[in-house]
Amino acid sequence: MLTPEQRAAWQRDGYIILPDFKSPEDIAGLRARAEQIVDDFDPSQSRTIFTTRDQEAASDAWFLGSDNSVRCFFEEEAFGPDGQLKQAKALSINKIGHAMHDLDPVFAAFTRDPKLAELAGDLDLIDPKVWQAQYIFKQPGIGGEVRWHQDATFFDSTPISVTTFWFALEDATVDNGCLWAEPGGHRGPLRERFVRTGDVISMEKLDTTPWPDDSVAVALPAKAGTLICFHGLLPHYSAPNRSPLSRHAFTLHATNGTTEYSEKNWIQRTHDFPVRGFI
Ligand code: FE2
Repeated sequence: MLTPEQRAAWQRDGYIILPDFKSPEDIAGLRARAEQIVDDFDPSQSRTIFTTRDQEAASDAWFLGSDNSVRCFFEEEAFGPDGQLKQAKALSINKIGHAMHDLDPVFAAFTRDPKLAELAGDLDLIDPKVWQAQYIFKQPGIGGEVRWHQDATFFDSTPISVTTFWFALEDATVDNGCLWAEPGGHRGPLRERFVRTGDVISMEKLDTTPWPDDSVAVALPAKAGTLICFHGLLPHYSAPNRSPLSRHAFTLHATNGTTEYSEKNWIQRTHDFPVRGFI
């Protein structure tokens, strides 16, 4: 599927941008299903927010139990000082996660795509294992910032192999919080590791290499339907969304099945709910 030039760019930059990977119909179907999941979500079940600030403290039972289920999380700025939602529920959810690619038929069909399986092979993923799905809303006005990080922090393996598949479900721009990345930064070390011990989460510092200066970051705007793939060690971030437009995206994280998936990762599967690939 990828040309030699695209493969060379992947090796050099640590990411690749593939416009028009998913059809408008595929995207409309996923968006409608996400809307339904949010509509069905009763906020009295949980008011857990999702934030990348102090994730150890923010990792409560609602979060930990979302490893192998489908749950909604609020934006950090969803609630006003009075404890009430500032805008409608549908405009207050940060994300849905983290196993709908295996549990929900619409998300499963989007994930089990022969094109994705072929692409994964071109990205050197052998027997890929898809551990996580996230539907990220990046809501208008209150869409949360995600600071510099590497996705391998959350999906450690020996050797490191996690690859992110980031689908733009709406046009992502610098105004509504598109991705920013450090080209070539995937050749640097893994800086920290998100470790689960029972119900306790900790962030282990592995390397003191500082995060890149924002000045080296390159914006990765993407039209709806675009797939951006990036290496698990690529430092990246996205800014808060202060614009009036949402920036929906869907992400999948897959490791190479021939690498050893860490038992300390927060998402684990058992034989009665095995991890699967793209087919
Ligand atoms: Fe990320």
